[in-house]
Amino acid sequence: MKSTIQKAHESFTAKLNRITSIEDLEALRIEFTGRSGIITQLMRQLGSFSLEEKRMYGPLLNDLKTTIGRQLLDKEVAFKTIDEQQRYKELRSFDVTLYRTTHFKGSLHPLTHVTTELEDIFITMGYTIMDGSEVETDFYNFEALNIPKNHPARDMQDTFWLNVPGLLLRTQTSNVQIHAMEQQKPPLAIFAPGRVFRNEATDATHECMFMQGECLFVDKEVSVGNLLATAQHFLQAFFNKDDLKIRVRPGYFPFVEPGLEIDAACPFCIKGCSICKYTGWIELLGAGLVHPHVLKAGGIDPAIYSGFAFGFGIDRLAMIKYSINDNRLFRSTRPAFLDQF
Ligand code: FA5
Repeated sequence: MKSTIQKAHESFTAKLNRITSIEDLEALRIEFTGRSGIITQLMRQLGSFSLEEKRMYGPLLNDLKTTIGRQLLDKEVAFKTIDEQQRYKELRSFDVTLYRTTHFKGSLHPLTHVTTELEDIFITMGYTIMDGSEVETDFYNFEALNIPKNHPARDMQDTFWLNVPGLLLRTQTSNVQIHAMEQQKPPLAIFAPGRVFRNEATDATHECMFMQGECLFVDKEVSVGNLLATAQHFLQAFFNKDDLKIRVRPGYFPFVEPGLEIDAACPFCIKGCSICKYTGWIELLGAGLVHPHVLKAGGIDPAIYSGFAFGFGIDRLAMIKYSINDNRLFRSTRPAFLDQF
């Protein structure tokens, strides 16, 4: 019996060493420790042995059962560990980018890129970003900006009037000037980007809905010098050109006095290119010192305070920056165009 027990263990160990799967391990467990397994049969045989033989072989059989049980367990743990390591390896080498769908890839709109960049520049200069309403009253869009009813300057900005009397879609971000003055006390420094609307025929450089940015600064003793320094610094930062020059021409906007047009030396060429139309200069900003009537309309005493303002087309800046030759592309929703940004 002793040698039978020993042989059974040797046979078990040999088979265990050859096993390569958890299924084979289960079969081996049944072969040796199952209901009609080898050890169970040996146990049954023991029943017909004498008491003395039982005392001798009983413990040996029990030891065999325990040892085989432990060996089976060790092997099972080893299989599970290998399996986990394998799965971990597979997961680690799983390249998530492989399955990225190209069709639904999103990107920011070029006007959003430029607006964010503009906001960053003005925030760096200490300005606060302000929103304005796109549906506006005649007062904020025109009257308070020194453009009374029947003033010919109203024709400069063809207006979308709403069915509700006195309401319109704002034609310029300058409407924010009055809201800012009503809400904040000087010194005030705000930058207001946003959509504006004009009842115009569209072409490569004109849209009926486009974006403008408005800069307003009000404090004591604000001068044209402050305006030019700020405008130059802003344009230098935007075009990333520290030595960018600007030039000033007289301009007319009823809400500033004096009114100015500010051009930047073309940042892309020296002697002329298609962007500056071979002039070396790009017209960019409408600007001036805030008219005393406007300060008064905003509740600010023009005897104490003065200010400057300038405004520009964000579409125009984006077109220059990204060499886009038709502003209608911005709202075309063409993926081929938008995917480039
Ligand atoms: C104004 O709207 C003034 N509010 C700017 C200003 C602010 C002057 C503060 C003084 C002080 P203007 O109408 O020129 O100005 O428009 C400013 C810019 O908006 C233009 O230079 C141009 O870049 C852009 N723009 C005007 N009309 C259109 C249009 N139909 N489509 C696309 N961009 C336009």
